[in-house]
Amino acid sequence: MSGAPGALDRWEGRPVEEWARRWGVPHMEAYDELPSTNDHLRVLAESGAAHFTVVTADSQTAGKGRGGKCWESPSGMGLWMSFLVRSDSEVPPPLVPILVGLAATRALERLCPSLRPGIKWPNDIEVEGRKLGGILCEGAGPGAVVVGVGLNLRQGIEDFDPGLKERAASMEMAGCRDVSRSRVAGELLSAAHSLVNPPPALLDEPMRQEVMDHDILNGRTVRTDVGVTGIAMGIAADGALLVEVDGRVEEIRAGGVTAVESGVEVNRVAGT
Ligand code: BTN
Repeated sequence: MSGAPGALDRWEGRPVEEWARRWGVPHMEAYDELPSTNDHLRVLAESGAAHFTVVTADSQTAGKGRGGKCWESPSGMGLWMSFLVRSDSEVPPPLVPILVGLAATRALERLCPSLRPGIKWPNDIEVEGRKLGGILCEGAGPGAVVVGVGLNLRQGIEDFDPGLKERAASMEMAGCRDVSRSRVAGELLSAAHSLVNPPPALLDEPMRQEVMDHDILNGRTVRTDVGVTGIAMGIAADGALLVEVDGRVEEIRAGGVTAVESGVEVNRVAGT
């Protein structure tokens, strides 16, 4: 064990410090099991943990999704990881969620060139209409964000809870077999580092275009959490989702949206 109680010395066959060195992160803690890597990292952040401190767990007993939902995090099936982003600003930098979503698509495309990952605003990762991963960003004091990433790697359809079977995916299911968790983590951290170090105030045009190229909602009818229905028109430079409602464009900055076709919700993953 290293340092923190319960933390493992080795992860994926190598000393934990070696992964931290390889990835250029200041500190990493790996656990067999945690309630939630986000909650654990928030405690570290409150004690002064450095920018890009990383926490992983093989399984989570209370994995958290967006909107207070739970996140299935069974042992050996996926990458359940959190990392800390610090910035100079007083408030948590608002573009971090979307930029980490973009980082996840870059990482997945490098790991598995046949994969066509999409971003469902703000930061679900989808493949062929199914959710492969999600990102949960939580403020952790002035200018700090705990970024939690859950990526399904090894599940077969039978491994998901009944409520998820219709809408969840894993890399294995998408034909990307035997991709190790360490490679996924390394690619993701490297892509995230290049996008949020430091987090920009606005997406520059190439970045916004790249987000748009992965935006699975563009042109679709969507309903916001507060019940507004309109046509998704892309992503603004400040990360807002643009939705045309009755001829005017609204900028959605909080909450989530659901794609609807003919009044039927098609883009909600129950329980995640
Ligand atoms: C979502 O799509 O609802 C976000 C899911 C985020 C899940 C990850 S797994 C690692 C980290 N720890 C948590 O408790 N949640 C995030």
